[in-house]
Amino acid sequence: MIVQDFARRKREGVPISMVTCYDSWSAALIAATDIDCVLVGDSLAMVVYGHPNTLPADVATMAAHTAAVRRGAPQLFVVGDLPFLSYRKGLEAAVEAAGALMRAGANAVKLEGAAGNLELVRHLVESGVPVMGHLGLTPQSVNLLGGFKVQGRGEAAAAALLSQARELAAAGCFALVLEAVPAELAAAVTAELAIPTIGIGAGARVDGQVLVLQDLLGITTAFRPKFVRTWLDGSGLIRDALQAYHRDVTSRAFPNGEESYR
Ligand code: KIV
Repeated sequence: MIVQDFARRKREGVPISMVTCYDSWSAALIAATDIDCVLVGDSLAMVVYGHPNTLPADVATMAAHTAAVRRGAPQLFVVGDLPFLSYRKGLEAAVEAAGALMRAGANAVKLEGAAGNLELVRHLVESGVPVMGHLGLTPQSVNLLGGFKVQGRGEAAAAALLSQARELAAAGCFALVLEAVPAELAAAVTAELAIPTIGIGAGARVDGQVLVLQDLLGITTAFRPKFVRTWLDGSGLIRDALQAYHRDVTSRAFPNGEESYR
């Protein structure tokens, strides 16, 4: 996948599949499938580091994980998430942050929200950095939103989101993540824009879907949002394998002669 393929896929009506990816070994597994692209999301603050929200992610951490993903999947289209406040300290600091992710191996960066970001989107695109937008539930604003809640409900909120989507597209975003918004609103945004929408909790009438890898593999079990489907009982399978390893170690069934050097 290259950046031009996003608009082409929308024109052709072929949905785009995207998953989050934070490390080298899962990147290699994803690269062996037909999945179109990965997002090194700042959700890694929660999934990998156990924080209650995405705010603790910083540029150095995001760059390190982006580099790990790139090493695991040299050919995959990788989007690096600009972390909390890294693009709100002026154009120069934002360019530095985007540069760090691109130098680490990202093909594009993602940022949350439209207000105050439009000049930056234009500047990054003019500087050779493809930008993915993100509207609806923008987790970096969790304190302002009062929690991880569905956004864009009601006429005024829906109209505001539609207008922000138009602004991001006009500023040069090549795609737009819509998170936790009513399916009708996501469909309206999708019908309006020439760039593809990638939904997460945004219903089926979008141009692609993104999920957190550990959610779709059934590895994260503590909290499962309504929109998550699991394709594997990851936590059960991993627990059983670890339990079997423990049993074989404690019973001296592991290692056997074949697994030992002579
Ligand atoms: O950080 C992330 O994983 C994201 C996706 C949920 C879209 O932004």
